[in-house]
Amino acid sequence: MRTRIRRALVVTTAGVLGAVGVLSLAGTANAASTLGASAAAKGRYFGTAVAANHLGEAQYASTLDTEFNAVTPENEMKWDAVEATRNSFNYGPADQIVSHAQGKGMKVRGHTLVWYSQLPGWVGGLGTDDLRSAMNNHITQVMTHYKGKIYAWDVVNEAFQDGSSGARRSSPFQDKLGNGYIEEAFRTARAADSGAKLCYNDYNTDGQNAKSNAVYSMVKDFKQRGVPIDCVGFQSHFNSASPVPSDYQANLQRFADLGVDVQITELDIEGSGSAQATSYGKVVNACLAVSRCAGITVWGVTDKYSWRSSGTPLLFDSNYSKKPAYDTVLSALGGTSGGGSGGGTGGATCTATYTRTDTWSDRFNGQVTVKAGSSAITGWTVPVTVTSPQRISTTWNGSPTWDGSGNVMTMKPNGNGSLAAGASTTFGFTVMTDGNTSAPTIGACTAS
Ligand code: XIL
Repeated sequence: MRTRIRRALVVTTAGVLGAVGVLSLAGTANAASTLGASAAAKGRYFGTAVAANHLGEAQYASTLDTEFNAVTPENEMKWDAVEATRNSFNYGPADQIVSHAQGKGMKVRGHTLVWYSQLPGWVGGLGTDDLRSAMNNHITQVMTHYKGKIYAWDVVNEAFQDGSSGARRSSPFQDKLGNGYIEEAFRTARAADSGAKLCYNDYNTDGQNAKSNAVYSMVKDFKQRGVPIDCVGFQSHFNSASPVPSDYQANLQRFADLGVDVQITELDIEGSGSAQATSYGKVVNACLAVSRCAGITVWGVTDKYSWRSSGTPLLFDSNYSKKPAYDTVLSALGGTSGGGSGGGTGGATCTATYTRTDTWSDRFNGQVTVKAGSSAITGWTVPVTVTSPQRISTTWNGSPTWDGSGNVMTMKPNGNGSLAAGASTTFGFTVMTDGNTSAPTIGACTAS
């Protein structure tokens, strides 16, 4: 009933607004000008791997905060970082990334709980029973620490061998616990934080081949038997020896058809110029063509700090300049480049930035700053999405409308929405957390 009334109000408002309302409903308002906002307008996130020790570098942080709406700690949540000594947990660097992300309304991908690499030596030295309890304890402790703050966890990473065998990779877990360790890890993970999506993540699984077939069979079996799995991550580290496969989209689609989300989790493509740009475009278009492709994460902000720095595989060069690949990705996402915060050539543009302003045990307040670009605007619209079971209980300085689910609020000005070029205003809202403290997703600001 409430929903119907809300829908009726939306329609009436659009009618009263006349030309302006119809224009923005038809989607002809100016497109977003950052990767994150453009992806959000397509119902996706656009993230990056982040290293805690670079957050203090002004250009690193400003590029991150301007362009991306999701982060993955590059190393800070790995077993050797978090539990180098048995049962002694160090969350400092990972916490830094998570609180930065939460303050900016970014999603966080947790990476990774069970992996053969970056695994402290003591784990490999354990006997079978001890190893099983150490694995389950690690998953439970880490997920409980971050409960409610993680969008998706890479529960198990890189468990299969390369090549034609389709076999499992040797690791302490595989060798001592056997094939069942993956299922056990996912079950333990679901019990620890039922609000996080649980992913299996791997590389060289980006096209259809023996390795991806083996992962496919495992996911299919998990879905059939009710083993909790929500998503499959495709790392997508590409170079000339391992280019974007021609069946990339088809491969994502076949996994999606099993009833899981697919995510591109560690994208980087070595190269430069238009060749690199074209490859990036293929990946973005493939994700957009698969409705269950939830988002894309690139494996770093700048070539300067890439794990494959000499291959210059990222979207920003070592001076934080946008590369041709950046422009291709932005335009594939439907965004338009226009220089800086909402600057465009003559058109009405705006940007929306989020901050958390207050936190209580059961709720928090968020504030969104809406800033006009280089031209004056007469109105603006900003979508705000919260994650169920969260609910927005109050709003101020804006006029909200709601979708049927009650999770998506579209905020418009309260009365006169005019802003001079470069001027800003704010609106706010209270989110009742119901146990989930994750930040809302702020969609693209559209100006009129
Ligand atoms: C890499 C990091 O980027 C490096 O800084 C680190 O030295 C090694 O690990 N697959 C994964 C990522 O799942 O965690 C790896 O990240 C890259 C390959």
